[in-house]
Amino acid sequence: MPGKFQPTSILVTGGAGFIGSNFINHFLPANPGCRVVNLDLLTYAGNLKNLTAVEKKTDYRFVHGDVCDGELVRRILDEERIDAVLHFAAESHVDRSITGPEIFVRTNVLGTQILLEASREHAGKVRNFRYLQVSTDEVYGSLGAEGYFTEETPLAPNSPYSASKAGADLLVRAYFETFGLPTLNTRCSNNYGPYHFPEKLIPLMIHNIMEEKPLPVYGDGLNVRDWLHVKDHSAAIETVLKGGKPGEIFNIGGNNEWRNIDIVNLVCDLMDDRLKRTPGTSRKLIRFVKDRPGHDRRYAIDASKLKRELGWEPSYTFERGIAETIDWYLSHQEWVAEVVSGAYRQYYREQYAEVGEQ
Ligand code: NAD
Ligand code: DAU
Repeated sequence: MPGKFQPTSILVTGGAGFIGSNFINHFLPANPGCRVVNLDLLTYAGNLKNLTAVEKKTDYRFVHGDVCDGELVRRILDEERIDAVLHFAAESHVDRSITGPEIFVRTNVLGTQILLEASREHAGKVRNFRYLQVSTDEVYGSLGAEGYFTEETPLAPNSPYSASKAGADLLVRAYFETFGLPTLNTRCSNNYGPYHFPEKLIPLMIHNIMEEKPLPVYGDGLNVRDWLHVKDHSAAIETVLKGGKPGEIFNIGGNNEWRNIDIVNLVCDLMDDRLKRTPGTSRKLIRFVKDRPGHDRRYAIDASKLKRELGWEPSYTFERGIAETIDWYLSHQEWVAEVVSGAYRQYYREQYAEVGEQ
């Protein structure tokens, strides 16, 4: 690949969350000699136990802090001689953005602007620099029965979450156009896999089936999502970071559309099999509930630009990915229990309230 960018010291924001932690677990061992600094506020969604495989590595450092703290961000960029910022940190759950939008604007829009500004001041101090914004297909809004989101699809976000992510994407564009900051912007479809917080559809269903609790399906259950394994997303981000031309946007997706009710039925059947329950047992837990307001009907990503220009393709079949995910949750019940009870949060609050930054 011509002109491949090789970072030596990267700042990952939100690295204790679902995708950020999977990315660090993927990237660190694959890039020996490249330092990884993880800046995370440890909100309800951040869990350092996602990172036990890497936490003792000398090339890894965790900093407890807020992306909206410009002084802290500037200090990290300088003292670690950061040459790439990968911005994962966000408020990520659509339902929470409906009940409390304000924090979404603060974290997702203001947090992005503060990181961009600090990056702009810092970029000239290192030989080569990239800023990569991890975004979502939700910025494009909703599709009807046909068609796909391409990078040219106009932004038409429908939830406070997706509006805040679209606002952030526009700031990224502005920093490239106005200041020449070498930015990259990825827009990915729904991820699934290990360390997924059990408020999102797939891990919530797995957890509720374990506990024999009702499985809430919004509306008629016919909304469509395009599912990608989080490890494929991680590999795609690395590919874009190293090979993407600054100023470009890349869609990332698995070409793997599922209606919600079909995916819930599939998870039910796989769980019945694993838990040795009579076939059909878990499906009886399904309850159709009131629809999500502004519920986007269908997402489907055209990721052909990423394949054509940078050669990335997903490696997981959905059959393998969903089976492995279910087995991961069944073999990590302690992780699930701590997340659901909030025990892990209390522990980190106590630890980091005392010591602040680590
Ligand atoms: P997540 O909610 O699991 O994790 C978010 C992380 O950000 C947490 O560790 C949290 O502590 C941290 N964080 C929140 N506010 C912060 C702040 N002010 N300062 C520092 N850290 C803060 O989210 P996720 O599902 O891993 O999503 C990561 C990124 O990927 C987000 O930007 C999201 O919009 C995007 N994305 C997610 C999906 C998906 O399916 N989950 C798909 C496409 C894009
Ligand atoms: O498309 C990418 C986006 O995918 C990311 O940007 C978001 O951060 C991520 O949370 C995810 O958003 P969704 O709203 O698509 O994911 P969620 O898991 O919340 O819901 C998936 C679908 O399942 C959606 O149509 C709503 C439905 N649903 C969800 C929950 C939590 C239910 O029917 N019941 C539920 O209990």
